[in-house]
Amino acid sequence: MTHDEVSEPTTSAAPWPVVDDALGGELETVALDAAVTAGQFVVSRRPQRLGVDTKSSDTDVVTEMDRRSEELIRYHLLTVRPQDAVYGEEGNDRAGTSGITWVVDPIDGTVNYLYGLPAYAVSVAAVVGDPRVSGAWRPVAGAVYNPVSGQAFHARVGGGAAVRYVGHTVSADTRLTVGDGPSLDQCLLATGFAYGSQVRARQADVLRAVLPAVRDIRRFGSAALDLCAVALGTVDAYFEEGLNPWDLAAGWLVVSEAGGTLSGWHGRAPGAQGVVAAPPVLHARLLTLLESVIAD
Ligand code: IPD
Repeated sequence: MTHDEVSEPTTSAAPWPVVDDALGGELETVALDAAVTAGQFVVSRRPQRLGVDTKSSDTDVVTEMDRRSEELIRYHLLTVRPQDAVYGEEGNDRAGTSGITWVVDPIDGTVNYLYGLPAYAVSVAAVVGDPRVSGAWRPVAGAVYNPVSGQAFHARVGGGAAVRYVGHTVSADTRLTVGDGPSLDQCLLATGFAYGSQVRARQADVLRAVLPAVRDIRRFGSAALDLCAVALGTVDAYFEEGLNPWDLAAGWLVVSEAGGTLSGWHGRAPGAQGVVAAPPVLHARLLTLLESVIAD
């Protein structure tokens, strides 16, 4: 089933469940296990020739491994949490009864995966509310796993964010805490671009105004990893327009639990219309700049 064919609500009618630390911890562990299992799968089972189709535009690709990874994650999640809903990038969504929806990106950075660039990740988040409606949901637990670097970022609401290395061995967790952040003119700023050419033209205009105001720009090609990079401090800030919930959900929680601020712009919730993430003071300055160049 594609997203357009979904007629049954996932969780929008249900009251948001209370996620205490015990439930948050359980969801965080499930997210981490699913993300690591799928991440190792997409590396170890990568075929010599990837079957590739396109989705929203000729540059928006999906590989057979995106679909197989999503199936594996779905199987994993529903085996341990059969009462939950699932909302994934590649479709085949499922309604639930618990008020928890799993928002899944089976390979975030699919173009990097296709080209063999080492910046892609599996992103798995548990959210409350309706992830199909911008502003009507929020993440409560999640994990982002880069199977090439072995970095596994994870967080739960109120429980902080951490990274561990998962390869042949598993490291201890390192807690993530964003620093104060630099001034705007010293900011290393990550961003990304949508697949539609009209949105890209607008994004290029915004970039023209932002680039002279910051230290430099990075475009890594995985929004989930960009958000985790803000939490880790390997970039200072990140902004993008056109994200889908599966690009955003787990990384949102990793940044905010690390003490970063994440918002939309012009007073909107983070979502397709915009996301900006940074340490709090830098966030305020970057938001002012973005709002001065992006029409409401
Ligand atoms: C994309 C990546 C990219 C971002 C795009 C996303 P996908 O996700 O996160 O960095 O700029 O907006 O759609 O298609 O690789 O899952």
